[in-house]
Amino acid sequence: MSLQEKERFLVTSALPYANGYIHLGHCAGAYLPADIYVRFLRLMGKPTLWICGSDEHGVAITIAAEKEGVSPKEIIDKYHFANKEAFDKFGMSFDIYSRTSLPIHHETAREFFRDFLQKGYLIEREEEQFFDPVANMFLPDRYVEGVCPNCGYNQARGDQCDNCGAYYNQLDLISPKSLISGQKPIVKKTTHWFFRFDLFQEFMENYIESHAKDWKENVVQQSRSWLKQGMKERAITRDLSWGVSIEGIEGIDPAKAKGKVMYVWFEAVLGYISGTKHLVEELRKKNNSVEFSWEDWWKNENTHYIAFIGKDNIVFHTLLFPTILYARNEGFILPENVPANEFLNLEGQKFSKSRNWTIDLKDFIEEFPNASSIDALRYALACNLPETKDSDFSWKDFQTRNNSELASIFGNFVNRTIQFLHKNFGGKVPTLSDKYKNLRTEWDLLVSQLLNDENISNNEFQSLGPNEIELARGLVKSFQNATHNLYNFKFRDAVFEIMNSARFANKYFNDEEPWKTLKSNPEQCAKTLFLCSQLLYSFAVFFSPIIPFTTEKLFESLGKTPTVGQPNYGTSQENTWERILKLNLDEGDEIKNPNILFPNIDDKIIQKQIDKLGKSPEDLWKEKSKDRIKYEDFSKVQLRTAKITHAERVKKSKKLIKLQIDLGNETRQIVAGIGEHYSPEELLGKTIVVVVNLEPAKLMGVESDGMLLAASTQDGSKLTLITTLTEIEPGSVVK
Ligand code: 2FM
Ligand code: ZN
Repeated sequence: MSLQEKERFLVTSALPYANGYIHLGHCAGAYLPADIYVRFLRLMGKPTLWICGSDEHGVAITIAAEKEGVSPKEIIDKYHFANKEAFDKFGMSFDIYSRTSLPIHHETAREFFRDFLQKGYLIEREEEQFFDPVANMFLPDRYVEGVCPNCGYNQARGDQCDNCGAYYNQLDLISPKSLISGQKPIVKKTTHWFFRFDLFQEFMENYIESHAKDWKENVVQQSRSWLKQGMKERAITRDLSWGVSIEGIEGIDPAKAKGKVMYVWFEAVLGYISGTKHLVEELRKKNNSVEFSWEDWWKNENTHYIAFIGKDNIVFHTLLFPTILYARNEGFILPENVPANEFLNLEGQKFSKSRNWTIDLKDFIEEFPNASSIDALRYALACNLPETKDSDFSWKDFQTRNNSELASIFGNFVNRTIQFLHKNFGGKVPTLSDKYKNLRTEWDLLVSQLLNDENISNNEFQSLGPNEIELARGLVKSFQNATHNLYNFKFRDAVFEIMNSARFANKYFNDEEPWKTLKSNPEQCAKTLFLCSQLLYSFAVFFSPIIPFTTEKLFESLGKTPTVGQPNYGTSQENTWERILKLNLDEGDEIKNPNILFPNIDDKIIQKQIDKLGKSPEDLWKEKSKDRIKYEDFSKVQLRTAKITHAERVKKSKKLIKLQIDLGNETRQIVAGIGEHYSPEELLGKTIVVVVNLEPAKLMGVESDGMLLAASTQDGSKLTLITTLTEIEPGSVVK
């Protein structure tokens, strides 16, 4: 079957504005659930594409630029790359993380605009708009604040109320105030292009009703209530200097088009399509053998299109985007589901950047860089996803999820099995005695009977006893429920079921008492550990959508290639998910001992994080410097000057540079994360300051024996090496 004919899944996650750092609330909304979903689909062998990227236009960006006193371009570059990196470290397995500032996006959006103009769906009209006479500019929606005409909320934005979700015309706002000058705006005329959403009312009603049963209630309700008010003509252009310009589009008077850009929501949703085009371009550039076009995904009836979003984006994805796709009349498919999440709170309060009540993903990663902590975060968030109502993240819960679930249930099973194998079976999958020679066939039979809900008769099995039957029952139940829940966007329930399988495994281990049978019945003991070894493989697959970094380690200790649902660029693969219920390892297979998978997180570490909430970076800095240390402590750190004699980039790393340094009476190799700030050439011959008595470490597999000193700004955007003012011999003591 060619890809054309195959069922495939196109998944998108809302494109976050590149105007700030992603925080844990965002992660729980549209990203982690989508990542779990696509990893699952890929393991199921389904051709899958997951598209995301930065939303880089609109007033969200220009306001941030004004605040930071830089250009919009500087803002989008700063946050696009920072967010991309943080997402990557968080294990978000996007097929592409694109940008709406790319030419391919601008072309795509302009093509839609031109087409709608030709089709007569756009009307040019003069309208009245708020104008700030002090700032001498028209005020786009976010630059105006006032009282919501619907609910009376007094900090409603120009086009939308954050309190009641109403979406209205700027001029309907009561007591408007310009956010630039603080003055009351005047009303002035300007030309805009209006999209005839009204023409699609009936089609959209049918579309929403056709999904009334399979979409989340909240998503259907919001869409219905919007439709009830009636789809209206809406301006899809703005007076702004930053965005997708409409200048030069055929059929528009150039004088009128001057200074007009598209309304950000009109073009941002098209970022999913341009992102797909971008991916195809990238794959072709890399000479990847994958040959498909973006249309194979967007214009194919066999595609299931799922759009993950947060609740503030609902109507844009259930009404605006589908209308745009349908109006194009070129066979674009529409979202089959829009699993919008509610909001995640933090320790009982809303996330708020201005009140420092937030945890940015990049800060979490900086504080907890280990793969195990990142997986623990994924797990804790997954257990608390705001799927049906707002939910809460707390540091205590994070700690409990790590210590009492990941470590005590999952980690414990893995650990006790591997320890036992190493102590008593030479670290290998035990060999089954003749008594159990039919175990594999019987296991497969038992599993298939359970899957088909048949009655199980104990007499049918010679190699499997009641404990094995109970284990299989538990495993099959977890598998079936988790699979069903994953398909139906119930990720919390899925995670619970997956963890349950490890509970069943621990129970099996306990009930079998291998520490006793080791002497009293060695054949049984071998069988028990044979099955426990098999479970390690099953868990490496089963847990991988949630804790992919850890399961990758587990695969490695089993000597197998990790299959953790990583991108396959839409090519269908073997169904790995099915293997969860199979016996995948051979007798005698070696099993290495991984380090403890989930080290305990103690109270002190958690308290430190709790204490940070609500404090500004300045306060935290002051607090930190109050923490005085004794001179003896400082003197433990041995600092020396060193001359750089050789520098080269570490392969496949943007950040790391490998240096050879001369310390006077010895030379050493160190690896430093300065590659984004220095080129190897400019480092040669520089005298730097190095900590020489630090334990050696490996960075991306490269040995580093020492650490250089550098100063960097709080957000890491600037960095400079600490060097000496005048020449001094290498190896001189710094104190
Ligand atoms: O709410 C937001 O962060 C928007 N940038 C989401 C855009 S989703 C889509 F339109 F790209
Ligand atoms: Zn309101």
